[in-house]
Formats: sequence, structure tokens, C-alpha cells
Amino acid sequence: MLPALHCPAVHTADALAREVSQWRADGYTIGFVPTMGALHEGHISLVLKAMEVSDRVVVSIFVNPAQFAPHEDLATYPRTLEADSALLAAAGCHLLYAPAVEEIYPEGFATSLHVDGPALGLESEARPHFFGGVATVVARLFGQVRPDIAVFGEKDYQQLLVVRRMAADLALPVKVLGVETRREADGLAMSSRNVYLSPAERMRAGRLNVILRDLAHALEDGEPAAAALEHARILANSVFDAVDYIEVRDAGTLADTGPGLLNRPARVLAAVRVGKTRLIDNVAASPARRG
Ligand code: PAF
Repeated sequence: MLPALHCPAVHTADALAREVSQWRADGYTIGFVPTMGALHEGHISLVLKAMEVSDRVVVSIFVNPAQFAPHEDLATYPRTLEADSALLAAAGCHLLYAPAVEEIYPEGFATSLHVDGPALGLESEARPHFFGGVATVVARLFGQVRPDIAVFGEKDYQQLLVVRRMAADLALPVKVLGVETRREADGLAMSSRNVYLSPAERMRAGRLNVILRDLAHALEDGEPAAAALEHARILANSVFDAVDYIEVRDAGTLADTGPGLLNRPARVLAAVRVGKTRLIDNVAASPARRG
């Protein structure tokens, strides 16, 4: 049997800084993909994008306590470091940064970020702590890795815009790139939390993307947003155990696009519950298709 491949790894910010400084001295650009591990094809597509646009790629794996509320799944979040390392090695990733909690939040750590704008509404309704935790850890990781380019999945579209806003507002010298969502054959967005779904829940989960795509097409075909949304919400409520939100928002700012005809690039976003699992997804909707 062939030995499992492992991605070179560091576990401290000092060791990380030594590697990155050497690369910088050698004139390499640095790409960065922050993750919480339990890697799947979606994450690997981010790594491949980072490799395409930079000379050296760091992937972090850190399950960030600051973005979980006490009732959420921090303790049970899937942790699969060995398998993750093998996947990263196979993808050609140059360095895995897997810090302990103390490396990110050392004793005395006293700063946390608050983001408005794209962080308002949607995910923040059910998870008010979430984007503060994400922005804080991502800013800290950016400070430790000092990447030229950071790559995030469009699956977490609101997170992508929040991180982009935060990096711009803090004048961080990093370009934030978004990569299209990877999907299963039935359209279900790949997610580390899909492992929570029972076979019956998994069948229902695939309906979310179909409902969102149909909604986007209705908007693109000229149906007013209010009517198209009402139809999608009725359908979603008949399939899922709860619908946290289904909304149409401006693709660049996440501002409300109003009840009428779509007149600018938009994003249709949703969060629903299947059993105990919360699914989020989003698709683009463009007024350009209307003749
Ligand atoms: O999307 C994620 O996996 C996390 O929210 C991130 C960006 C790694 C921050 O912990």
C-alpha cells in the first residue's frame, strides 16, 4: 500500500512566518484559503484557484470558536485533519497552517470586529454572533499569513462580501476572490455539514437549489420579486422543516432590491432547516436575460 501523502504543516504563527518570509524573500506571491477543515471538493476548488493566481498557497484549518453560539455544533463539528492533509497534498497545496486555539486567541486577546453593511440581516438574523467571529478570525489569519490573495467560496456569499468589506475598510493589502459553489449532481451545495443529513433528509436537501434556480429564472423572465418570492417561500415551506429566509438582494451590497422587476445584478439567498441541519445556498439572478 502506498503511504498516505501529507501536506507540509505548521502549527504556530512563528513557524508560519518563517516559511512565508522565505517565500517573500524569494519573490513569490502568497495565496491563502482559510477553512475549518472537513475538506471536500468545494474547498479543493478554492485551493486550485489560489494556486492558479499565486505562487505559493497556504490553507488554514481552524474551527473558530468565536463564530459558534453556545447552542451550535462547535463540539461536534467534523474534524478530519489526517484526511484533509492528504487531500491538500494531492491538490499541491504548499503549506497547511493548523493552529491551536491559543495561537489565534492567546491570553489577553481583547479585540473583536463588528461589521455592518453586508453583514446585516440574512445569516445575522439566526446567527447574530457569526460575522463578528468570522471577521475577527479572518483579520487575525490575514495578519499571520499576510497573503496577497485570499480565496473564499460563493457558497457563503454573505461571508464573502463581509470579508471583502472588512479587508477594504481596514485597508488590508489583500485581494479577496470568490469562487463558484461546487454542487452534487442534484444541485446540493457541497458543505462540511452535509454529513449530518440522513439519507431521507439528503433527498430533500437537493430541492433547495432547484427552488432557488426556479426563483432566479422567474425574476429573469420578468416576474415581480414579491410574487416570485411568495411562490418560492410557499414551496420551500412545504419541503423543509423551517425556512429561515429566502431573499433577493443586490449582488454587490446585499441591499434589498425591492418588490418589483429585477433591474440590477442580484443574488437569491436562502437558509432552511432539514431535521437538525441548517442549509444555506444562493444563486445569481441577472436582469440581462429579459429581452
Ligand atoms: O467559511 C469558513 O469555513 C469559515 O467561516 C472561515 C472563513 C474559515 C472563518 O472561520
